[in-house]
Amino acid sequence: MQNFDQFIGSFSFDNRLAEVDIAGSIAHTKMLIKTKIISASDGRKIVSGLTSILKDIGKGWKFPEEEDIHYAVERELIRRIGPVGGKMHTARSRNDQVVADLRIYLKQEIGIVENLINNFQKVLVEKAGENIDVVMPGFTHLQPAQPVLAAHHLLAYAWMMQRDRERLADCYKRTDVLPLGSAALAGTSFNIDRQYTAKLLDFENISENSLDAVSDRDFAAEFVFCVSLTALHLTRFCEEMILWMNPEFGYITIDDKFTSGSSIMPQKRNPDCAEVIRGKSGRIFGDLIALLTIIKSLPLAYNRDLQEDKPPVFDALDNIKMCLEVISEMTESLEFVGERALKSTEKGFIAATEIADYLAKNNVPFRAAHGIVKDIVLYCRKNSKTLNELSIEEYNGFSKIFKKDIFKYLDAKNIADMKTSYGGTSEKSVLRQIDNIKQKLK
Ligand code: ARG
Repeated sequence: MQNFDQFIGSFSFDNRLAEVDIAGSIAHTKMLIKTKIISASDGRKIVSGLTSILKDIGKGWKFPEEEDIHYAVERELIRRIGPVGGKMHTARSRNDQVVADLRIYLKQEIGIVENLINNFQKVLVEKAGENIDVVMPGFTHLQPAQPVLAAHHLLAYAWMMQRDRERLADCYKRTDVLPLGSAALAGTSFNIDRQYTAKLLDFENISENSLDAVSDRDFAAEFVFCVSLTALHLTRFCEEMILWMNPEFGYITIDDKFTSGSSIMPQKRNPDCAEVIRGKSGRIFGDLIALLTIIKSLPLAYNRDLQEDKPPVFDALDNIKMCLEVISEMTESLEFVGERALKSTEKGFIAATEIADYLAKNNVPFRAAHGIVKDIVLYCRKNSKTLNELSIEEYNGFSKIFKKDIFKYLDAKNIADMKTSYGGTSEKSVLRQIDNIKQKLK
């Protein structure tokens, strides 16, 4: 390795902060003018120089490579307006500058991720509404448990996403703290006005401790954790899509464009998009561990290790955005095969709990009812019958309490609809859920 400058540099991955870096510098310069630390005419030259760079970036112009984006902007400014450009860095250090940049950047991106989550929620809620009549087995341990509405199942993910969005909104509050004015680590002897800079940059708060401010990356770690949990939620959904697309289940179809074929097996429609989203979670979790490990054990205040914060933050950000876009489109194309899902409820004695509840409602202690129904299921297994296929006489062989109305309790849709408790899977409860979550959506 000969090129140590490149080794310690960060330009290759921090140049995406160019715009926010310039925005920060413009605000800082305006503050220097207001506080008379620099003259208004020098300040104006700096601001217009920075603005011209910003315009050129917009047209596709690229910075020559420097150690990092902060040096790149300053050198370019001095090239354009002369040595007066060097006054911009008065009462500032790259240490407070870089973390201010990252905060400005993440504040914008948090909003974008929140919107993408909101969109995915909308798709889920819409699909839930469209499929309100679809009944499918609900599982525990991936074994048939009790019938649920497919809409209820989809909405479970909409609520997960709601928590994710609220978590990001909370993370935003702690990101919305301006470190500028902390300088290298100790603050500055210039008579700066930090509140003014904060106002210009639309920050709610300014940091209280300069040592903490320049070395704090909690907000970044929190952000990557937030998106890690979102990624984790997406993997659960993708896993279910993959299962439900399997012909053994056959509950759903998705548009072919989200699947791919095989180079050898002509019949294949593999759920690649869902699998890639599931896989992407691995690198996003890796980003979280990388970031935590970079920050761990660092003595106060700034250490160059902190420069390595950006690749994991950007990687987690880019990937969660892609995943959210893909999953929303894929879910939009999702169609339920209602009769297959319903057919599946005939397997696995899925009405058993309902029969036990029937007995319990007729004064049999639930534990005893559980035992009776266990025997009924054993009997069915032995005689290769379903619960539906038993006669009332057979039921009465196990308990005299059973009346003919028991058969009403064996129908999957009825069973689901009897779960009228708040948050349950009855159609009425699910429609209320749809109303409730719609009120949370933008
Ligand atoms: N490129 C550096 C970073 O991303 C900027 C801060 C450098 N500060 C310093 N004292 N070397 O963290």
